[in-house]
Amino acid sequence: MAGTRTRTVTKAVVTVAGLGTRFLPATKATPKEMLPVVDKPAIQYVVEEAVAAGLDDVLLVTGRNKNAIENHFDRNWELENALEAKGDHERLARVRESSVTADLHYTRQGDPRGLGHAVLCAARHVGQQPFVVLLGDDLIDPRDPLLETMLDVHARHGGSVVALMQVPRDQIHLYGCAAASPTDEADVVRIDDLVEKPDADRAPSDLAIIGRYLLAPGVFDVLRATDPGRGGEIQLTDALRTMARSGEHGPVHGVVFRGRRYDTGDRLDYLKTVVSLAVERDDLGPQFRGWLRTFVAELPA
Ligand code: UTP
Repeated sequence: MAGTRTRTVTKAVVTVAGLGTRFLPATKATPKEMLPVVDKPAIQYVVEEAVAAGLDDVLLVTGRNKNAIENHFDRNWELENALEAKGDHERLARVRESSVTADLHYTRQGDPRGLGHAVLCAARHVGQQPFVVLLGDDLIDPRDPLLETMLDVHARHGGSVVALMQVPRDQIHLYGCAAASPTDEADVVRIDDLVEKPDADRAPSDLAIIGRYLLAPGVFDVLRATDPGRGGEIQLTDALRTMARSGEHGPVHGVVFRGRRYDTGDRLDYLKTVVSLAVERDDLGPQFRGWLRTFVAELPA
């Protein structure tokens, strides 16, 4: 998996500094990225995805109230000793699994002034290399690899690569939206323009940007020159739009993802995520599926 290709892209930036207002009050004192998806917090799936793609230098851009994330990825000796003393090796292994696996770094955003601003906080750590950004509440099913495809597209074309997904027109106002031209590769498009959260009648396509980006380091200069946009926030989409239009930092391509993606920052999607992943588990799945069938059959119309 981590072949020669990944030598040029080794760093991942995971943004977790947002306020998570859609999930209040659960997120008043707990980061939304720590909400459990079955028995692992969402952020662990995201960090594992980066590591599986060969990105083993991971910077988390955090903010106030996010200490739980750092603690989660650290050793917990008290808990480990207690489980060891009880001889509970299975749970001990699961605790140790979470204190990963990668070279983890943290920086603080301070004032959450938008995704673009969060990415800018990673500039010093990233330096002059292309890098990957993953949104900490956006889960890609490990059975549908996306980052590998993005890394391959980058290896062939350079520049930047964003992940796209077709969404129903009436939902496009929730996303950044791409105007794109086909290439001779299936599900790879060239981005001509981008617009953040357009109304359905002004959207250039049904292609929405989802939470994975492979960015040329020139994005930092562009972000520094990007004024606050929609919602008064510095938008990564606006910086990418500048890059796509000027071509100054290489082309911007899009990979159209057709696999399973879960937005755990949205309450309805979060519920769907937990059910979707739980029914497929070897340990919980059989019992849960049985219960779920009965539950659904008895639901009032
Ligand atoms: P969201 O749009 O989901 O915003 O951010 P949010 O503030 O986290 O959540 P709501 O809308 O209030 O419920 C998308 C990603 O960008 C990060 C978030 O942590 C998430 O990974 N982000 C957003 C930052 O790191 N900093 C920001 O200033 C804004």
